[in-house]
Amino acid sequence: MPGYLVEDTRKVTTKRLIEMKEQGKKIAMLTAYDYTTATIVDGAGVDCILIGDSASNVMAGNLTTLPITIDQMIYHAQSVVRGVNRALVVCDMPFGSYQTGPTDAVRNAIRMMKETGADALKLEGGVEIIDAIRAIIAAGIPVCGHLGLTPQSINKFGTYAVRAKEEAEAQKLMDDARLLEEAGCFAIVVEKVPAALNQKVCSELRIPVIGIGAGPSDGQVLVIDDMLGKNKGFSPKFLRRYADLHTIMTDAIGQYVADVKSADFPNAETESY
Ligand code: KIV
Repeated sequence: MPGYLVEDTRKVTTKRLIEMKEQGKKIAMLTAYDYTTATIVDGAGVDCILIGDSASNVMAGNLTTLPITIDQMIYHAQSVVRGVNRALVVCDMPFGSYQTGPTDAVRNAIRMMKETGADALKLEGGVEIIDAIRAIIAAGIPVCGHLGLTPQSINKFGTYAVRAKEEAEAQKLMDDARLLEEAGCFAIVVEKVPAALNQKVCSELRIPVIGIGAGPSDGQVLVIDDMLGKNKGFSPKFLRRYADLHTIMTDAIGQYVADVKSADFPNAETESY
């Protein structure tokens, strides 16, 4: 089937992702938040599954990622890990779990790794949180960085618009990217920045850059509910919709309601004992 990765069924590791960049192979990353979806995403050949704190938006209906807790992220991550054989599983550290300093960050990171079985963690930010990132990596936990539009800082930005259009912010993003690589991150997500800037980051760094709304990159990530078209209200320019699950689900559920109301379902012959 097109797009299905069949030639390499080994478990994906952080080292393998770096090799993929060296070999010019693109990395496909997608979010998942539950067991059944994770089995499908893994089986379809996605290299890296992210339990994003976007679960706060798409699972819980919050306006931002800020409210989701460590316990809630752990619940989602445990469910995903049970459904994955091949993909590298990365879990977001939620807002408040690492910004208070390296000691809290390591304690929470260790708890998240122990209780979820995830392979790695993702944290948002550059120089501001570099001590926390260094401490987590020193504890033996692989870290994926996240720069550009970092949704946990939405109240500071005040907008979900494209970041780093101005020279000073673009320069900071480049500096942060180099710092994250030096600190030992195995990859960096770069969200919603101009494609030319992201190209510069991709070509300067040895580690893979996974883009979202950042143009061509070493890999791409999307929120699964968005790319499957479950949510009709979210249509940023960067989003490609691969299905219209909103319509498919509404039609299917509407048909079920009609069948129950008309007493068509269940039938006596094949759907009853
Ligand atoms: O939380 C999330 O889903 C993310 C991706 C958008 C990269 O961080």
